[in-house]
Amino acid sequence: MADAAQPDFEPEIIVFACHYCAYAAADLAGVMRLDYPSSIRIIKLPCTGKLEVIHLLRAIEAGADGVYAAGCLEGECHYLKGNLWARQRVNHVKKLLTEMGLEPERVEMYNMSSAMGVRFAEVANEFTARIKELGPNPVKRKGVSPYAAAREAASEIALPEDTDTVADQPNRPLAPLATTKEG
Ligand code: FES
Repeated sequence: MADAAQPDFEPEIIVFACHYCAYAAADLAGVMRLDYPSSIRIIKLPCTGKLEVIHLLRAIEAGADGVYAAGCLEGECHYLKGNLWARQRVNHVKKLLTEMGLEPERVEMYNMSSAMGVRFAEVANEFTARIKELGPNPVKRKGVSPYAAAREAASEIALPEDTDTVADQPNRPLAPLATTKEG
């Protein structure tokens, strides 16, 4: 397990955010000038249902101190069950981390709507506080960027940050999503 919390520790946190909700909520939080840690790095997805176990594990393996998925509210996923699958995969990764001797709290799943800018900032602050408490990821290596590694691992599913609409991505059909229970 990781060392105890360090006062000057700034966690590197990766967020896999659904384009329709959490990403828009992050934008809103910015417009509202709400404070959340700048160390949060967001990877935009067309739906959290695209997220697989391997994407979460790669981020942790590359040294991310924490990783979370932020999808639409349950019942409001544009692809019906994408956010439910994401939750199952996050829960599966929690089990894998426990088996590897890492804290399962380093990964999480959140749900929010695009109107929840305040909630986005709240989650970012709460999760950062949780990770600060846990301390650095013990598998962190010098010179490895968790964000770059996570982005590369998710290159097939991530949307460019400057994309306004999913429809701007003609080569990225959104359906069908994988139907496996745990990715
Ligand atoms: Fe947002 Fe599926 S469309 S989580």
